[in-house]
Amino acid sequence: MRSRKVKKTASKSSLYWYAIIAVMLILVALIIAIVMQKNGLFSKVQQPIEQIPEVVIEQPIKEEQPAVPAHEVDENGYIKNQTLPKEPTYINGILIASKRYPMPADFAPGEQPEAKEAKDKMLADAKKAGFILDAFSGYRSYDYQKTLYENYVARDGQDAADRYSARPGYSEHQTGLVYDIGEVGKESLWLTETFGETEAGRWLRDHAHHYGFIMRYPQGKEDITGYMYESWHFRYVGVEVATTIFEQQSTLEEYLGVQ
Ligand code: DAL
Ligand code: ZN
Repeated sequence: MRSRKVKKTASKSSLYWYAIIAVMLILVALIIAIVMQKNGLFSKVQQPIEQIPEVVIEQPIKEEQPAVPAHEVDENGYIKNQTLPKEPTYINGILIASKRYPMPADFAPGEQPEAKEAKDKMLADAKKAGFILDAFSGYRSYDYQKTLYENYVARDGQDAADRYSARPGYSEHQTGLVYDIGEVGKESLWLTETFGETEAGRWLRDHAHHYGFIMRYPQGKEDITGYMYESWHFRYVGVEVATTIFEQQSTLEEYLGVQ
């Protein structure tokens, strides 16, 4: 009985010491933690990755550069300070004459035989269909276009004239591949949009591609062609190209992928 009591007392006192050691250990751990906290040792370990200051490598500042235009164009669609080239421009074998693609002043090919032949056939077939058409203006030399344009400028002012008449060196008529067409007996409608609403004008619009011609300046395409709607101005490009342009209801610029 006695020895049992001694054993019990001994185990009680060892528990007591264990408790003291445990408390001391906790205190030591707390002190270490406080010291580490003070020295910022904890914060370095716990800092979220995104807050670690990055090594900043200096980059040259890239400023958004505005797209540099290939050429500056004036308010009437002409390239500023442009001089006439030494050669006309052919794209995929097609001669292009426009506000952006002028020709040399001495480019004087005259009326082109394949265009004339196609035009004659077209007008003969128009006649069979009941429309007597006349190609009242065809090939024009540089000098003739110069006189024409200057007269229009004197009459209407340059801004207005530039919408319907080409400056010398820029007229498609200088290529010898173009005809202005109207109906005989309705001369008052020549060079008018109204011609395009007549039966004869509509026949021409709908059949010209069978002969290799396109209506060069269609309605609603002034931004692309540079000229107002001209129901009377037809350009020879060959049947295949004319048919594609007609079916796509597009323009020579769109077909060639130029502006
Ligand atoms: N009327 C057309 C644009 C020309 O003068 O060639
Ligand atoms: Zn014309």
